[in-house]
Amino acid sequence: MRDDKKQGKRSEQAPDQDPAVKYVDPLNPKQQSRRDFLEGTGTAVVAGAGISALGFPNAQAQSSTSGSRTAINVTVNGTGHSVDVDDRWTLAELLRDELDLTGTKIGCNRGECGACTVLMNGEPVYSCSQLAVWADGANIQTVEGLAQNGELTPVQQAFVVNNGPQCGFCTPGQLMTATALLNRNPSPSAEEVKDAMVGNLCRCSNYNAIVEAVVMAGEEGGVA
Ligand code: FES
Ligand code: FES
Repeated sequence: MRDDKKQGKRSEQAPDQDPAVKYVDPLNPKQQSRRDFLEGTGTAVVAGAGISALGFPNAQAQSSTSGSRTAINVTVNGTGHSVDVDDRWTLAELLRDELDLTGTKIGCNRGECGACTVLMNGEPVYSCSQLAVWADGANIQTVEGLAQNGELTPVQQAFVVNNGPQCGFCTPGQLMTATALLNRNPSPSAEEVKDAMVGNLCRCSNYNAIVEAVVMAGEEGGVA
């Protein structure tokens, strides 16, 4: 379960404790479209960098002042969960702190590095930049949902063979983006891999090995 003492997250700070963020009237995330959120971050809820370089809204920039909670139903790695979430939680916080799925990593926590990438209804998303309430009704896949019965997927195996992980911190996010790519394009070229994975940074700069691993996975039959 969530241990608030361990979090130290901006989303857990009271509004008047965070000098980087100005808060306005609470918003109801369930009634808020992505467009509304983007516009809102531009006009009312202003953070130092509320929108990522890749155009993703930064959920850390939004906060309801009340700490209100919403009951959501979400399927994670094939298991259904009914969770009473704080409206300020990001999807990454829900996964890591509430569901104990710590394979999803938080690097920048502002939609820039891709370490937190998970699949939402099959599409890669930055879980640090998605509010947990936005996952209501969604199907989420995390890195824990890749291997089945202890058997790695082809892309996981290819990462091992090609030394895809160095420190390994970016690897869960890399694997999830690669999985989404291979699901729609089972045999991508190196250029297609680079294009698809441009939103996943590697502090160790192990990009050549990562691209080679994803290409190999495609050559050996993709994810399935
Ligand atoms: S931790 Fe989410 S993009 Fe960096
Ligand atoms: S392997 Fe270290 S950040 Fe990518």
